[in-house]
Amino acid sequence: NKGKYEHYMQKEIHEQPESLTTTMRGRLIRGGSSNRKSVLLGGLKDHLKTIRRSRRIVFIGCGTSYNAALAARTILEELSGIPVTMEIASDLLDRQAPVYRDDTIIFVSQSGETADTLNALEYSLSNGALCVGITNTVGSAIARNTHCGVHINAGSEIGVASTKAYTSQIVVMAMVALAIGADTISTKPRREAIIESLLELPGKVKQVLKLDEEMKDLAKSLISEQSLLMFGRGYNYATALEGALKVKEVALMHSEGILAGEMKHGPLALVDEHLPIVVIATRDQCFSKQQSVIQQLKARKGRLIVMCSEGDGTAVCGSSCRVIEVPLVVDCLQPVVNIVPLQLLAYHLTVLRGYNVDQPRNLAKSVTTE
Ligand code: UD1
Ligand code: M6R
Repeated sequence: NKGKYEHYMQKEIHEQPESLTTTMRGRLIRGGSSNRKSVLLGGLKDHLKTIRRSRRIVFIGCGTSYNAALAARTILEELSGIPVTMEIASDLLDRQAPVYRDDTIIFVSQSGETADTLNALEYSLSNGALCVGITNTVGSAIARNTHCGVHINAGSEIGVASTKAYTSQIVVMAMVALAIGADTISTKPRREAIIESLLELPGKVKQVLKLDEEMKDLAKSLISEQSLLMFGRGYNYATALEGALKVKEVALMHSEGILAGEMKHGPLALVDEHLPIVVIATRDQCFSKQQSVIQQLKARKGRLIVMCSEGDGTAVCGSSCRVIEVPLVVDCLQPVVNIVPLQLLAYHLTVLRGYNVDQPRNLAKSVTTE
């Protein structure tokens, strides 16, 4: 039931304040001597010791689920102190890459039925690794066949383009990072800042959804473009990849997410006054580097659309580019806020270009063949 919405994708984008609340429900609880909030993930608690002893954590997924894992990689590395590597499920299988008994492998899948991810799970089980699932579908093959895991509880997602599952996956993986990481005096301020920010996140997403009309307007200005680049780095490299995936998948427009640190190693040659480029430059440790990327793109007359933190618009790009201002949250959760305007942009582009929003051509919601 689409309710007041015209499309499931639109409904699912606007539902995110609620789906994020459900994802966190019962999992941020008061406890310990300080009575501070901490994370309790019922599906992982008996396996945390084994996970903490593993030599490496590997994230495996496809498409949007891979991007969500990439968004969470840095915080998992930071809080766990364990190296985290990334694998696209089909590529792990193509390479028959080494998987060891002392690895923890985390399988991320909205449907829990994606063939490539399932095959990678079978392969990892036979190599003796601890296999953890993060899925939206109770009773799915991945939920059943992993040793343990976490349901993201985002509610069923019907639009082929994954939207609310992406933000709930990131939130779950941030909670997984908190659950694995040591709760010590030195890590306490950081952990508390993340938990506070998690609690505020549904409200911040509600706020960023108010950009709907602005994103429709932006979509109008891009309606007949051939291509759209998205530059991100750090926590928001994943935002660039996921924003571009949304645009190509539903709006049927070529779009590419690019790691801003790679700009001078090739992509800069594409820049001229016509090609639209989204640059994600919200406040975090990478902010000054992104500012210099913007300067370099401006020097080449790049047609920029800059996503920055509230109040930063003029400082970040003067008057010569289009600005998307978003509310600031803790650095590792900023991807949850930043993807929302790009989901809205992809949605409006699709409607304006007259394509099928919920059933993009050639695609299926659940990819059950290799
Ligand atoms: C569980 C209940 C939830 C209840 C809560 C109360 C289920 C599905 N969930 O939630 O209804 O409100 O307790 O305490 O009954 N798992 C995997 N692989 C996966 C995902 C999950 O093996 O990919 C396993 C988990 O290890 C766990 C079980 O499935 O044993 C349920 O996981 P999850 O729903 O995340 O657990 P809770 O949040 O504790
Ligand atoms: O169900 P899964 O999360 O395993 O699906 C993985 C991809 O097929 C999926 O995310 C796909 O990329 C989406 N259509 C993207 O919107």
